[in-house]
Amino acid sequence: MNKGQNSLFLKVLRGEPAERTPVWIMRQAGRYLPEYQEIRKKYSFSTMYKTPEIAVEISLQPVTRLGVDAAIIFSDIMVIPEAMGMKVEFIDGKGPVFDKPISSEYDIKNLGEYDRNELDYVFDAVKMLRSELNETLPVIGFCGAPFTLAKYMIDGSNTKANRGIKELRFGRPELLHILLEKITNACISYCKEKISAGAQVIQLFDSSAGILDSEGYYEFAYSYSRKIFEELRDEPAFTIYFSRNTSQWLPKIKDIRADVISLDWSVSPQEAIRILGSEIALQGNLDPSALYSSTSDVRRLVREMLKGFSGAKKYIANLGHGLMPDMAVENVQEFVNSVKTESKNILS
Ligand code: CP3
Repeated sequence: MNKGQNSLFLKVLRGEPAERTPVWIMRQAGRYLPEYQEIRKKYSFSTMYKTPEIAVEISLQPVTRLGVDAAIIFSDIMVIPEAMGMKVEFIDGKGPVFDKPISSEYDIKNLGEYDRNELDYVFDAVKMLRSELNETLPVIGFCGAPFTLAKYMIDGSNTKANRGIKELRFGRPELLHILLEKITNACISYCKEKISAGAQVIQLFDSSAGILDSEGYYEFAYSYSRKIFEELRDEPAFTIYFSRNTSQWLPKIKDIRADVISLDWSVSPQEAIRILGSEIALQGNLDPSALYSSTSDVRRLVREMLKGFSGAKKYIANLGHGLMPDMAVENVQEFVNSVKTESKNILS
């Protein structure tokens, strides 16, 4: 299978020898960067991700500024609910807010069909980004995992209570399955088309899976993400599973059929390797808040993280979740720089 060019990132995923550890950061394209804020002054967030030229420019900002080893396409996971006919607004400080969240059996059964024509701007942006990068670095495409998308579509925003989704999970599980199936089919089509457009890596974000109980996690989150990975197995792209607060379920996650498991900071690298084995590729996992400490602390913590992962055959350095808008660019830069220099020492 042709899984792309000769970048360090893809070499490591193919299991080829590499001189250092590749690094990228979740939310590397975003508000902590002054050059992002400059563009953001002129446009709304949705205009930014719906305009391919702007999305590509923003995707390239962290590549130019930080020297990361992959470019993630600037977009949002809410494009799928949008393509299923739901209206989403992004409110400053609050995140996505749906004007009419799903609130009944009728809403679930009459949810719009996923219309890929609504998302030409995403596929165009991926094509442009791939071409701009000129095979130097891979393009990471991403997709919200079905459970995480369902949570937002039902609860309508980033509420802490998760009232609606939990009511459905316990009270009408069969309806939640109908919804999850519709979303899963949309995700499969969307990921395949992103790969056709040029994405060499697809990361599935199951950011909300950790709100579930153990049985609920397997039934409503894990199984649908696994279905997507099954469907993507023969596609020319590597897959990454990211979930949060789910490390208690790592023995199950081992079999999710993603090429890479992205870890948060609730599990130590050594423990993750003990559970998952040293063959599967791992990504992560420094607590993003570590970037609020001093530059020298960042370097020390990166060194510890890299040593922790030295038993994994394939490893990509990242944080355990995304960057926050108030993080100092110099500490973000130090994270990238220290992965590069310290991993050379550790690997040599
Ligand atoms: O650099 C990258 O990682 C790519 C861009 C990216 C964004 N959103 C841009 C964004 C990615 C991968 C996402 C994924 C996403 N979006 C997730 C899953 C990952 C996660 O972080 O858990 C979720 C749950 C969303 C939904 C979403 N979109 C939220 C909760 C928010 C508000 C976040 C906040 O901190 O306020 C958004 C808006 C959003 N998505 C912004 C960016 C850069 C901020 C937009 C702005 O106001 O400029």
